[in-house]
Amino acid sequence: MAAATKTIAAHLDTVLGGLADVPVVSAMRYAVTGGKGLRGYLVLESARLHDIDEARAIWPAAAIEAMHAYSLVHDDMPCMDDDDLRRGQPTVHVKWDDATAVLAGDALQALAFELAAHADCGPAEVRADLALSLARAAGARGMVLGQALDMAAETASVPLTLDQITALQAGKTGALIEWSACAGARLAGADIRPLSNYARDLGLAFQIADDILDVEGDADKAGKRLQKDAAAGKATFVSLLGLGEAKRRANELMLSACAELDTYGSRADNLREAARFVISRES
Ligand code: IPE
Ligand code: IPE
Ligand code: MG
Ligand code: MG
Ligand code: MG
Repeated sequence: MAAATKTIAAHLDTVLGGLADVPVVSAMRYAVTGGKGLRGYLVLESARLHDIDEARAIWPAAAIEAMHAYSLVHDDMPCMDDDDLRRGQPTVHVKWDDATAVLAGDALQALAFELAAHADCGPAEVRADLALSLARAAGARGMVLGQALDMAAETASVPLTLDQITALQAGKTGALIEWSACAGARLAGADIRPLSNYARDLGLAFQIADDILDVEGDADKAGKRLQKDAAAGKATFVSLLGLGEAKRRANELMLSACAELDTYGSRADNLREAARFVISRES
């Protein structure tokens, strides 16, 4: 994953290097730096599973990391989670200002579509499929819906149910992870269902792990402020079920994610490893 992250970062660096030398572009560059690169890795691995060249897969991989970076820049803003630290560094609105953070996020989102539709991704139908599915995953059916539900839950008069929290998290975190894992099948024009099922479990496990880290993680390792969710009134598996049951569910989801890959045999071992990583990570 570290190697994939480096390759994708270099690609984004080249793309952003072609833009004007202005603060909003510096902020974009800053925002795509220093993450784990899980989503980009899922794109490259799912592409490898379908014998797609990395020269094609690098475009959607860079696209999803740009989209994810945008979601974090906005998530950290004072009007949302109000965080001053991300990936061990000051957040974009702290290092620059709110207007630059809004615009850098906007531009990263637009860039994500540009990259997902890049000519080197393949035939026109493939490029259209990547861009259309990315729009669905990122917008008011996916990530933005989840983020809106997450914010609304902070001031809800009754706690969310398990089904409501599951839907919230499938949107805010699951949708982009699912798009990432399906990208290789889309590039190949293959059936996305096994990877989609894998990623649904993986995305939920990923967000449960994030919520557990908020309670008992090490802030230095995580590179962000922790122990904020409860005070903010966030609706999470941990807030509803407690730590023990949340951990049990994350483990169950990891096993179920791995089982969804049976059809790929041992060729999907890296994706199984990614599922184990997701629930055991410290950052
Ligand atoms: C953090 O995502 C935001 C969530 C969806 C929980 P990551 O944990 O993947 O963040 P980076 O990209 O590695 O910093
Ligand atoms: C962020 O979820 C999800 C998106 C940015 C879409 P969180 O708010 O839980 O992520 P962290 O904890 O700030 O990384
Ligand atoms: Mg948030
Ligand atoms: Mg947050
Ligand atoms: Mg969190």
